[in-house]
Amino acid sequence: MKIGVIGTGYVGLIQAVGLAHLGFEVVAYDIDLSKIEALRRGEPPIYEKGLKELLQQNRERLFFTHWVEDLRDSEIVFVCVGTPQDAKGKANLNFVFSAAERIKPLLTGREIVVLKSTVPVGTNRKVQQLLGNSAFVVSNPEFLREGIALNDFFNPERVVLGFGESHPQWVREKMLKVYDYFLKKEVPFVITDWESAELIKYASNTFLAMKISFVNELARLAEKVGAVIRDIAKGMGLDSRIGDKFLNAGIGWGGSCFPKDVSALIWQFKEWELEPKLPKATKEINEEQLLWFLNKIKRHYGGNLSGKTFALLGLAFKPYTDDLRESPALKLAEMLIEEGAFVKGYDYVEGARRNVKKLVELNTSTRYSYGLMVCDDLADTLKGADGVIIAVEYREWNREHWDEFARLVRHKAIFDGRNILERKLVEELVNRGWHYEGVGVKV
Ligand code: UGA
Repeated sequence: MKIGVIGTGYVGLIQAVGLAHLGFEVVAYDIDLSKIEALRRGEPPIYEKGLKELLQQNRERLFFTHWVEDLRDSEIVFVCVGTPQDAKGKANLNFVFSAAERIKPLLTGREIVVLKSTVPVGTNRKVQQLLGNSAFVVSNPEFLREGIALNDFFNPERVVLGFGESHPQWVREKMLKVYDYFLKKEVPFVITDWESAELIKYASNTFLAMKISFVNELARLAEKVGAVIRDIAKGMGLDSRIGDKFLNAGIGWGGSCFPKDVSALIWQFKEWELEPKLPKATKEINEEQLLWFLNKIKRHYGGNLSGKTFALLGLAFKPYTDDLRESPALKLAEMLIEEGAFVKGYDYVEGARRNVKKLVELNTSTRYSYGLMVCDDLADTLKGADGVIIAVEYREWNREHWDEFARLVRHKAIFDGRNILERKLVEELVNRGWHYEGVGVKV
């Protein structure tokens, strides 16, 4: 079966490579010629663990193109284009509709067009209207986590499929055939209507963001009363109804999905004249969290960060990615610079460092250009620092040479924005004269 994929970003590329690995002939189309050329050379334009290897391994079943006509004869076309938020927080659907318009002339009425892009309620219906009788539209939201996206592709916790009420039975059967690998693995399938499928995606991301915001808000109380948020989260998480995931307090959630999806859900409530109370609070708490953390740092330096140098450990929005979108680490860098501090940043992922360097170069007239320096070496990052800030939750920070760091820094202070340093290490560090502050922890 020939399968088409529109968009070779994080979602499209994983979908294309994943399906090729499952044995399908895949044509992946993108309007960006430079991306296509890189992919043809076997080089993914994004960093994702294992992607390059899998791409090269399945090259004979993968065809990359920037000619939309090459999608002709694809029995199923997955639309995996971006749905960025506009200035009001609403999802911008221009890429989705233009993809649909572009493929319409190639369709014969027997194809299935699958929307994998995260789209607000009503979008699948609108795309079906746009395509008329030329194809059947199916909603199939994705639940891939950056950094472990390939693992998530091959081992999903569920597959959600939303169909139109008048879709013939063969459309369902064909979708199940494509995902036969997951059926055989007994992955649960949620077969539903378009609107429910669309909302499952927004609800899942907002709920996860809400868990984090809840624990972050609670961390502020924990700190005041002398409790430890990690223990509280553990005590809560052992209740299987609550679960222990996404209860790590920190400097807040970022990325290409949570911020845009929470905002888009807020917008959808408003469009239907409902008050989005929990999504709104989720967003507000997240916005406050960085300021709350900054104030903690400021207090340690008597309220004045001017002239101070900070080693910022972690740059991307989470570990093992080069994605900087809505990165709390970078937002914190900006806030520190605004306070008159100088920031030296490091991330284990080379691509993340490269992308921040590009950002610094591009923004020659902004704060970044003079306040932020990216180092390729951890020791250089720490040299002369007045404080070390952990902004991304790499467990690897625990295995670093803190004794050597102690000799490099000007002032031994750690602000662990991810509570990632293990308790035993923290105790040792404090005994060796380090000042340590986490999020909702007492030392
Ligand atoms: C998220 C969802 O987890 C995926 O299921 C979904 O498919 C994806 O969005 C999407 O919509 O495409 P992702 O953006 O890759 O995945 O990142 P997460 O691992 O969910 O982390 C998001 C943010 O929350 C990060 O900034 C992370 O540092 C933060 N986080 C996560 C916490 O602060 N605490 C936690 O306990 C967990």
